[in-house]
Amino acid sequence: MIEVVEVPLEGREYEVRIGQGLLDQAGAHIAPLLKRQRVAIVSDENVAALHLETLTRALEIEGVEHVSMTLPAGEATKSWPHFTRTVEWLLEQKVERRDVVIALGGGVIGDLVGFAAAVLRRGVRFVQIPTSLLAQVDSSVGGKTGINAPQGKNLIGAFHQPSLVLADIDVLGTLTKRDYLAGYGEVTKYGLLGDAAFWDWLEANGERAAAGDAEARIYAVKRSVEMKAEIVLRDETEQGDRALLNLGHTFCHALEAATGFSDRLLHGEGVAIGCALAFELSSRLGLCSQEDPSRVRAHLKAMGMKCDLSDIPGDLPGAEALLDLMGQDKKVVDGQLRFILARGIGDSFVTADVPSDKVLTLLKDQLI
Ligand code: GLY
Repeated sequence: MIEVVEVPLEGREYEVRIGQGLLDQAGAHIAPLLKRQRVAIVSDENVAALHLETLTRALEIEGVEHVSMTLPAGEATKSWPHFTRTVEWLLEQKVERRDVVIALGGGVIGDLVGFAAAVLRRGVRFVQIPTSLLAQVDSSVGGKTGINAPQGKNLIGAFHQPSLVLADIDVLGTLTKRDYLAGYGEVTKYGLLGDAAFWDWLEANGERAAAGDAEARIYAVKRSVEMKAEIVLRDETEQGDRALLNLGHTFCHALEAATGFSDRLLHGEGVAIGCALAFELSSRLGLCSQEDPSRVRAHLKAMGMKCDLSDIPGDLPGAEALLDLMGQDKKVVDGQLRFILARGIGDSFVTADVPSDKVLTLLKDQLI
């Protein structure tokens, strides 16, 4: 069975299709979008080795011609040199304004290819086939595309919505446990930010989903995408509510910077720790009960996830240095740090009203 989540943005509506075997049937899903039966695929070396042949076979069954390029795997690919190479390759392949480009990969490929599609001939359509849990529940939906700058992550980019997202649950079976759980950090974020019933469901079913249960995985991805779609519809370009999707991210970005954006801490791991810290801070500010942060940490621990600063291998800088790194966050407006805090599980809000001494004390307590 295929679940469909609509993203009804006026004039740019699209569907996120979630289910098993979608890669095998990708040709049938993509062919109806095409004006001429030809696509360009961009992937990375790891994903291409696992899934490119399945995709090209599925396209051939529908008579769709294809060309493909593979980029190196890893965050370093989200940079000007690989972006330039991709755009020029698409031009060499004579991709026209009415053609469709396919992004086959995780968040790095989706963001880079989406941005290339946004600027190529002033905008061509693209299809996202996200192959990581993080990309399925977050980065492939909502139209944020871009690359990193030496000055920081995701600082160069554009809003460009895909024309279709195919989230094949079967491909999650090729992820390492660590990558799956990192993506699950973003899944828990949705329950925490806006749906207490979903959080209850995750507490009861998270381990079943992690063990590979397809039905549980489909529901977790579907509910996450529904929540993201609702928020993106309200606030596509992040003038307000979309910032809720950054629950845990202010702490996370500082921790990623402190660990040199290395595999000491994956993004989704930082999000999980950041969510636990955001709830602890909310409780210390008297916004939510003391049980809420305990519940958040208990579930992350039960899943075998990182939830404390001490779970990050190696040394971290001191609390002052971490607070300083938080001040570099994109969410700083007029020098004022904005946080996503919570009145309870499923009830978060954006605020600039957070005394930095409270954040400092929290970090100091965590670093002991
Ligand atoms: N990943 C956050 C957003 O799409 O707004």
